[in-house]
Amino acid sequence: MSAPGPALSVVRALVGAALQSPSAENNQPFVYTWDGETLAVIHQAHRARKSLDPRFHTSMLTLGCVLESLDIAADAHGLRPMFTLNHGLPEDGPWAEVTFERGTSGRAALAPWLPRRSTDRRPFGGGPASHPVFARVEAEASRHPPVAVRRASPQEPELLAFSARAEALFFHHEALYREALHWLRSSAREARSRRDGVPLEAALPGLPTAFGAALLKAPGAREVLARSPAPWVAGRLVTRQLRSSAALLLLTTRDRGDLALVPVGRALLGCWLRLTEAGFGVQPHSLASLFVYEEMLGALPSYFDHGLMQQGLGTLRRAFDLDPEELPVLLLRTGLSPSLPPGARTPRRTVDECLTLTAV
Ligand SMILES: Cc1cc2nc3c(=O)[nH]c(=O)nc-3n(C[C@H](O)[C@H](O)[C@H](O)COP(=O)(O)O)c2cc1C
Repeated sequence: MSAPGPALSVVRALVGAALQSPSAENNQPFVYTWDGETLAVIHQAHRARKSLDPRFHTSMLTLGCVLESLDIAADAHGLRPMFTLNHGLPEDGPWAEVTFERGTSGRAALAPWLPRRSTDRRPFGGGPASHPVFARVEAEASRHPPVAVRRASPQEPELLAFSARAEALFFHHEALYREALHWLRSSAREARSRRDGVPLEAALPGLPTAFGAALLKAPGAREVLARSPAPWVAGRLVTRQLRSSAALLLLTTRDRGDLALVPVGRALLGCWLRLTEAGFGVQPHSLASLFVYEEMLGALPSYFDHGLMQQGLGTLRRAFDLDPEELPVLLLRTGLSPSLPPGARTPRRTVDECLTLTAV
């Protein structure tokens, strides 16, 4: 039986923790309602709709991160959350309901890392492949079977070549380019005032400032860039980023069901926090992984580069030694990296904006 709900101040703290979750391009696709007993996690389709993500898979991964954040933050308040997923996954509506009982899960030790976790797109300082954090990362993934985390060398030539080609797709697909740039903010100030999206300097660290977001968004810019050395440069940049890592990690699942990505998202956040705790930076690489997953499920539009994604599947299977029934979901690069300065973190919507109190 669920206990009477926690105090509103605690619920606000829990929602504050959930809002720190990573989301694709920092689109933050969830809001929350609280009726005194149940916290509902509500999907907002307009924030997540993308032609290359027709089934809202990135929102499902974020939902997993949200639930894991709630689990960790609730433990710090002596609470155990119980999650009920809404199998219908309405485009606009509740995706999960959360009730709380008194108890402990031992997850609170990770709570201090929730606000310090971030996406680090800088080159890393390598790191030993034998570092004990990798055993902790595997333990995190194993909490959510049939999710697993696999590891590969960041120097593996076939994987580097595929990742570089996948990165260049950004310039060759109008929808991919336009939909990602929608969330690109010209400066940290603009991102802070909108409380979402990714500032240019965080998305492309080291890029000359003259290369403004307005220029990238100008009509016809993609076509010009696609014919310029930009796709090659992007491939080179991603190769450099990957090679600077201690290891590449791949989150996988054996589940092909509709909700399969939610536990992958939970494992993603757990692994990310463990790596943050150990002083490792983390960057997801969706183009070389999530699009391969979409291809496997037949979820990509007909105009997409299916041949490259099929080839990528073979590459990922070989590099990460996957079982035949294992589906790759999300590639992460990780390596030693000093934490980002607080001002460089992506902003979030506020609890007041995202939490609605409803009558019991
Ligand atoms: C499902 C998913 C896919 C992502 N894919 C990428 C990616 O391909 N490249 C990248 O640089 N960041 C990627 N990110 C990181 C997000 O851009 C980042 O989480 C968001 O901007 C919030 O920033 P933060 O992680 O620093 O809090 C991804 C995040 C999620 C949850």
